[in-house]
Parts: sequence; C-alpha cells; structure tokens
Amino acid sequence: MHNYFITGGAGFIGSSLSKRLLEEGNKVIAIDNFCDFYNPKIKDNNVKELEQIDNFKLYRADIRDRQALKTIFEENNIDIVMHLAAMAGVRPSIENPVLYQEVNCMGTQNLLEEMKAHNVKNLVMASSSSVYGNCKEVPFREDMIVDFAISPYAATKKANEVMTHVYHKLFDFNVIMLRFFTVYGPKQRPDLAINKFTRLMLNNEEIPMFGDGSTSRDYTYIDDIVDGIIKSCNYTLNNKMFMKY
Ligand SMILES: NC(=O)c1ccc[n+]([C@@H]2O[C@H](COP(=O)([O-])OP(=O)(O)OC[C@H]3O[C@@H](n4cnc5c(N)ncnc54)[C@H](O)[C@@H]3O)[C@@H](O)[C@H]2O)c1
Repeated sequence: MHNYFITGGAGFIGSSLSKRLLEEGNKVIAIDNFCDFYNPKIKDNNVKELEQIDNFKLYRADIRDRQALKTIFEENNIDIVMHLAAMAGVRPSIENPVLYQEVNCMGTQNLLEEMKAHNVKNLVMASSSSVYGNCKEVPFREDMIVDFAISPYAATKKANEVMTHVYHKLFDFNVIMLRFFTVYGPKQRPDLAINKFTRLMLNNEEIPMFGDGSTSRDYTYIDDIVDGIIKSCNYTLNNKMFMKY
C-alpha cells in the first residue's frame, strides 16, 4: 500500500484512478484547481464520493503555486506522483498558448522542483499521442522522432518529456511517461468527441461530420488506462529506471 499524490485528481482520469487506488487500500493525496476548461461542477461531482473516504485528501490548489505544492509535500509522506494536471485539448491551446505554457510547463517545473526538494523521485506522467503530430508511419512507435509538434498543447507535452528526462539523468528520478490516446468511458471530458456524439444522439440531434468520413483514430477505455497507470506506478516503485523507449 502506498501514498499516491495525484495532480489533476478531480479530472476525468484523475478521479477514476483515485477511486481504484482507494479501493485497493492506498492513500490518495490529490491537487486540483477546478479550472473552468469545462464545467467545474462536473469535477465537484467526480470527487463527491471520494471525499467521503478517509484515505482521500484533496487540496483545492494550483500547480502554478509553488508554495501550495511545498505544503503538500511537507504535510504528506508521498511515495509516488501521478502527474495528470494540465490544460488539455488541442484546439483551445491554439487560442491560448500562454496559458498552456504556464500550466503545463511551469506547473510541471514547480512539481519537479518540489519533488526534488522533498526527495520524492517516483513519477508517472501523462503525455499525449498528440506528440506524434502528423507522423505518417503507422502504427506509431515510442522510438519515433517526435520533434514536429503541430499544436501548442503537443509542444508542451513534448517539452514535459524532455524536462522530465533531465530530472531522470541529473537527479535519478524514476519516470514513466505515458502517451495516452483519446480516453473514453464514464466521466469522459465533455469536450471530447464520444461525449459530444452521445449528447447529440440523446437529444435527437445530428452529429456534424468533418472531412470525407475516411479518418480513423485510436481510443482507449478508461479502465484500461487506469490499469496501465497502476502497472506503471508499481513498476516505477519496484525498479530502478534507465533510459528506455
Ligand atoms: N483524456 C484523454 O483522452 C487524454 C489524452 C491524452 C493525454 N491526456 C492527458 O491526461 C491528463 C488528464 O486528462 P483528463 O482527460 O483527465 O483531463 P481533465 O481536464 O479532466 O483533468 C485534468 C485536471 O487537471 C486540473 N488542472 C488543470 N490545470 C490545473 C492547475 N493549474 N493546477 C491544478 N490542477 C489543474 C483540472 O481542473 C482537471 O480536473 C492531462 O494531462 C491530459 O493532457 C488525456
């Protein structure tokens, strides 16, 4: 049993992961700023049941606030960090790249520094399939060159991968970066296609079609993502990591 610090713990993936970890007897410390990227009431709802559980502790705070992170590390004996807090979404990042840079890059930098300061070196982190950009070769492989991001969001995730590698090399961090492909299932973010399609169908409305209908995309079910995250955390906790694609 371990103490997990989950950033973005009120979000879609964070709350689903927290639920499973708590069911398995772990302690979960979560941070979330309940930002309005989508309706924060959905996030309140995501944590409602979790907040009834003794082993769940939620900090309503921002990862850009270094002092808030410091307090969390001081008040809790954290074994491993699962870093999910981010501004997600490709299109909105084109509208507001500065915010994406501040949250995804500066927020992550704060987290890495506070982990270093408190000697917490186990980290599993959400990257994104968007780092593959317009790679033509399929299926994508982890060892492909991903230097050609095509959105500010993807660029911040690639930047996170690079910066985290620095902490692995310089400070012995044990890290796994997970490049999620669109996640679906209960509590899915309302901005994502399957959620939108379902809402339109339930309202008997037409689903707008873009392109010629020949595009394809990978989706991953939330329970499989949670399984994968937990396996990655266990691996990180039990193995000394080395650079590996
Ligand atoms: N859902 C997907 O399909 C998908 C695909 C690829 C990558 N990802 C990545 O996985 C992670 C989780 O995604 P999700 O779908 O659960 O998104 P989400 O938006 O539901 O969850 C992210 C959470 O982070 C919180 N947050 C945002 N900025 C914050 C800040 N400055 N300080 C503290 N908390 C903050 C939000 O309030 C939200 O609850 C993200 O890093 C996202 O980029 C998700």
